[in-house]
This record gives sequence, structure tokens and C-alpha cells, in this order.
Amino acid sequence: MKIPFLSFDNRNQQIREQAIAAFTSFFDTKWYVLGNATKQFEAEFATYCEVPYCVGISNGLDALHLALKVLGVGEGDEVIVPSNTYIATVLAVSYCGAKPIFVEPDVQTYNIDPKKIEAAITKNTRAIMPVHLYGQACEMEAIMKIAEEHNLYVIEDNAQAQGATFKGKKTGSFGHLNATSFYPSKNLGAFGEAGAITTDIEKYADLVSVYRNYGSQKRYYNMVKGYNNRIDECQAALLSVQLPYLDKWNAERQRLFVEYMELLKGSKDLILPLIAEGATTVGHLFVVRHNKRDELQAYLSENGIGTLIHYPVPPHLQECYKELGYQNGDFPIAEMLAQTSLSIPLYPGLTDDEVSYIAQKVRQFCSEN
Ligand SMILES: Cc1ncc(COP(=O)(O)O)c(C=O)c1O
Repeated sequence: MKIPFLSFDNRNQQIREQAIAAFTSFFDTKWYVLGNATKQFEAEFATYCEVPYCVGISNGLDALHLALKVLGVGEGDEVIVPSNTYIATVLAVSYCGAKPIFVEPDVQTYNIDPKKIEAAITKNTRAIMPVHLYGQACEMEAIMKIAEEHNLYVIEDNAQAQGATFKGKKTGSFGHLNATSFYPSKNLGAFGEAGAITTDIEKYADLVSVYRNYGSQKRYYNMVKGYNNRIDECQAALLSVQLPYLDKWNAERQRLFVEYMELLKGSKDLILPLIAEGATTVGHLFVVRHNKRDELQAYLSENGIGTLIHYPVPPHLQECYKELGYQNGDFPIAEMLAQTSLSIPLYPGLTDDEVSYIAQKVRQFCSEN
């Protein structure tokens, strides 16, 4: 069997006619930037996230950056981020001139550990950025409580968890401003670059709209030094086609997630993910852990199974963050996750036979090593 790490075949097949019709309609409108498709998708995605406002943005990184910018985070400020996340979360903080302060994750859920946040708060802390990693919602109740007590902003990084919930409330609806990404491989993925900010605070939504469009509300009049962070009108149209499928696709990911959990439990020395009480996962990634991760990856590759590592180097040890002066050992949980984690295929369209085959190969490796 040959199983790629990710395949768009199933998704593309389901939406092909609708996507082509949406593209044709976009083409024929002859209105290519900030038009009706953007307005429509923003309204639909706001409804999906159960918030009143959504502003379409060029991509997830720009959405994170704009959220911080609009909240006035800048030079001299500190922002709490998880020590294991995709680099975008951390770069957004740096773009504002603020300093990222890393907090270790829970070793079982891989999400930021709320119990460790308070120790990282100083007089300069302005915001907490929880990242719903691999599709699982962070423990938002505890995080919001800490933020309230210390008067901090919360910006959710919801790039990997569209549709997940904590105690029944959708990710992307907790924080003051919340960012998401529609990078093609996300649960809701564009056919190019796109992102969004969701919020229930009108004044922030309005400011995000201004900042994403050169700081302008009225053409050629600029209130603030803004950016060109507009969502692409064509991507907005194609996202509207897919949004009605998202719950179905997430449910399929969740079913495959449970199947893996069943098939892999008890495998020698293999660590499976844990979903925190009150949280759900939308199965963005299925990440297993093994001390011989590289050998496991090579073994699966020899058996035709594509895998990826999310992520091989934690942000504090990346070359671009040399200036922060961190060393190996400073964030041992993030470092251990980087050395032992392996993502195995999980996407709509992956068949039960493929899941069984992958699980069988993983088990075989575990029993022989
Ligand atoms: C956790 C996380 N945050 C932010 C981003 C940035 O999104 P984008 O690639 O659309 O800029 C991504 C994905 O790439 C991500 O996985």
C-alpha cells in the first residue's frame, strides 16, 4: 500500500463542481478584491464560530500579527505563547516588537499548561496566546480566568482547530481577538493563502478591517499605518463552498482519530494523545510519540506510509531566535516532544483499510523495538 501523509483527492472530488461554479462566478463579477464573496464568507464563518464578527485576512500569520497590533501590543511588552507551537505564533509577537515568553505544554495534551502560565506573568505581560494544537481545544476556562485576574488580552491561535470546542464553546470565540489560517492543509483549507480573525467585540473587528486595508476606511485617507492584509476574494468564494462540509469532514477526522486510538492502544512504548476533560479535538493531526521516532518514521516510509514531524525544532531553539539566548534544556517538554513526535496520516477520505494498515505497521514496529 502507498499512503501519502495528506491527500486532497476526497475533498476536491466532493466540491469540484461547486468550486468551479464559484470560481466562474467570481471571474464574471469582475470585482476581485474585498467584494461580496468576502462579505459572505465573513458572515458565514462568524456564524460558524458563534461570534458576531469575522474579518477575512491574507493568511494566519498576518491574522495573528494584526490581532496583536490592534490590541496595541508593541515594544517592551511580553506575550505568553506555548513552547511547542508552529513558528507563526511566535513570529507574530516579534513582528510587533514584543517579546515571546514561552510556557511549557501539558505533556499529555501537548497544549499550553494553564497551571504554568501564572509563573510567567510579569508587569510587562500584555497577552496570552493559546494555540489549539493538532486540533484539540486548549483548557480555555482556566486560561480565561487567569487572563481576567491579571487583566491580560487573550488571542487564540485557532489555525489547527476550526470547529473544536471547550465545554461546548467553539474555539475562536473565547479571546478578545482570535486568528485562524485557511492554509490548504488546514481542516478548512483554501486553494492558496487565506486567514481570518474572529471576535465578539465590534470596535476590534472594525479596527482589524481598517488595519488590513492600508489603515484606510475611506479610500486614500489613512487613519493608521496599516498593511495590505486583505483576504483574496477568490479564496473567500472557495471557502464559502467548503464551509458547509466542515462539520462532516471534522466528524470523519474524529472517527478516524478514535479508530487509531483503539487500534494503537497498548502498543509497546508508544504514547498516544490525550484529550483534556471538557475539550474536543477536530483531529487536525494524529501525533504519536516514540523514543525511536526517526526509526519509526523510516520504517513507515519503507512500508509506503507518509509521515511528518510537527515540529522537529521548538521555536526557542530555532536559529532565528538565537537572540533570545535559549539553550537545550530550557523547555524540556517542548524539546522532548520535538524529538519524539510523529504525525501519521489523518484526513477525510482515508479509508478504514488504510487506517488498519498504518496501525498494523506502527504496532509491528513497536513490538520489534
Ligand atoms: C498553529 C499555527 N499558527 C499559525 C499558522 C499560520 O498560518 P498561515 O500559514 O496561514 O500563515 C499555522 C499554519 O501554518 C499554524 O499551524
